[in-house]
Amino acid sequence: MKIITVLFVSALVLFLQNSSASLDEGCKRLHAVNRNESYEFCVTSLQVDPDSRTANLSQLTLIASKLTKKNYTHTFGVIQQLLGNQSLSHSQREALGACNETYSSEIEHADIAIVDLETGDPEDAVGLLQAAARAPGNCESAFSDRHEASLIPGEDALASLISALARDLAVLLNYKG
Ligand SMILES: *[C@@H]1O[C@H](CO)[C@@H](O)[C@H](O)[C@H]1NC(C)=O
Ligand SMILES: *[C@@H]1O[C@H](CO)[C@@H](O)[C@H](O)[C@H]1NC(C)=O
Ligand SMILES: *[C@@H]1O[C@H](CO)[C@@H](O)[C@H](O)[C@H]1NC(C)=O
Ligand SMILES: *[C@@H]1O[C@H](CO)[C@@H](O)[C@H](O)[C@H]1NC(C)=O
Ligand SMILES: *[C@@H]1O[C@H](CO)[C@@H](O)[C@H](O)[C@H]1NC(C)=O
Repeated sequence: MKIITVLFVSALVLFLQNSSASLDEGCKRLHAVNRNESYEFCVTSLQVDPDSRTANLSQLTLIASKLTKKNYTHTFGVIQQLLGNQSLSHSQREALGACNETYSSEIEHADIAIVDLETGDPEDAVGLLQAAARAPGNCESAFSDRHEASLIPGEDALASLISALARDLAVLLNYKG
């Protein structure tokens, strides 16, 4: 009886370890090939989705892409709200217009990448996620090019981190070496 209990407990421990080993493994591999990607940021970002516990690299990339879309959609909403401000200067309005444009087209790219990953076409997804990851930088440049302080520095900084994670996971997924 005791032996069976010990075996059962060991099997349970192994099962529980394995169930989050894939997230841990994926984030470790990512940091090993790309030192710009923090292991902690990878784990804490992706674990908000419970499916990440048993996800392989392709599924982790999908989760990161969905989080990017969600984040971009949130940022896009903030931009829309700011555009409603009647007191903006001409150059602030122009810069926000450029941000509106880049986020709206990159949300579409992220959307296509999500479908690609769901249908097993990671090669197409990587190019789209590389393009998508440029939206926060494009938006910040729209302000700095006009010598304006950014109106959404915090949103752009967070969007930049999560979209880079999706991009770099996609690059790793496609890595044949
Ligand atoms: C890491 O970040 C630096 C600075 O942004 C960049 O030049 C470099 O290409 C990045 N490395 C990888 C592997 O993405
Ligand atoms: C990940 O798992 C899914 C579903 O089990 C499978 O279709 C896909 O081929 C796997 N991808 C990789 C890269 O292992
Ligand atoms: C956007 O991403 C950042 C970094 O992962 C996170 O802290 C923030 O909560 C996200 N916001 C939304 C609305 O997804
Ligand atoms: C509207 O824009 C002006 C100029 O940038 C700014 O001073 C003001 O705080 C903004 N109002 C709101 C409600 O965001
Ligand atoms: C913002 O982008 C949306 C979607 O592309 C577009 O319909 C809207 O006209 C844009 N708004 C401004 C002020 O540029």
